Amino acid sequence: MPIYQDLLAKVSIFQNLRKDSLAQLESMLVPKLYPKESLIVSQEEAGDALFIIHSGKVKVLLYGDTGREIILTTFKRGDFFGEMSLLDNQPRSANVIAMEDSELLVLRRESFLTHLKTHHETALAILAEMSRRLRKADSVIGNLALLDVYGRVARLLLEMAQNDGEETEDGLLIRARPTQQEIASMVGTSRETVSRALNEFQRRGFIDMHGRGILVKSQHHFLEEYTSSRG
Ligand code: CMP
Repeated sequence: MPIYQDLLAKVSIFQNLRKDSLAQLESMLVPKLYPKESLIVSQEEAGDALFIIHSGKVKVLLYGDTGREIILTTFKRGDFFGEMSLLDNQPRSANVIAMEDSELLVLRRESFLTHLKTHHETALAILAEMSRRLRKADSVIGNLALLDVYGRVARLLLEMAQNDGEETEDGLLIRARPTQQEIASMVGTSRETVSRALNEFQRRGFIDMHGRGILVKSQHHFLEEYTSSRG
């Protein structure tokens, strides 16, 4: 009985596969539970599997010299990770940690490589997905170089609102916002600075904090005010 095929059909790299290929792929997957905070992939280890998220949420991160966390991205249901070391035979490029209790589908290296050799549509789709991720990384590098800290926090909130926000009469509502520490780790600053930035945005009427959510109001002015590049 196919349990995971609906999910697999929505994963960007498998969405062009026929039903029989999806069924074959499903038979190679091993489900595994990872509790919140557990380490799924460790930087510098050899890569032996690709992971697909069935439920939960994970963060991809690096550690600075002082142990500071730098979050490169987060992934949720339907996303995949762990492909880089399988493709270039280098150690894992980053750490991946569960942000919630998560169920992942594990595809062993040999199964993944066999699938790729026999399904060129997956290979092409991986190239497309890696281009999307590189574009996003380019934009993050641009923001780090061109925007000050408040601009980076503002840009992150606007991106989250535009990608996952819910439209309301008063603006876009981000229902489950990251913690202040997580925002700090995404834009390369301290939690205290993020707290000051959020307070200023709220005082100036660009956002409203609602418990675990943030309402982003007047996107255009918010963008203008904080993310016009500075010299
Ligand atoms: P791998 O290097 O095998 O293990 C860590 C994984 O994190 C990596 O494969 C990618 O799937 C993911 N990853 C690393 N860096 C980024 C990034 N900048 N953007 C998105 N995903 C990344």
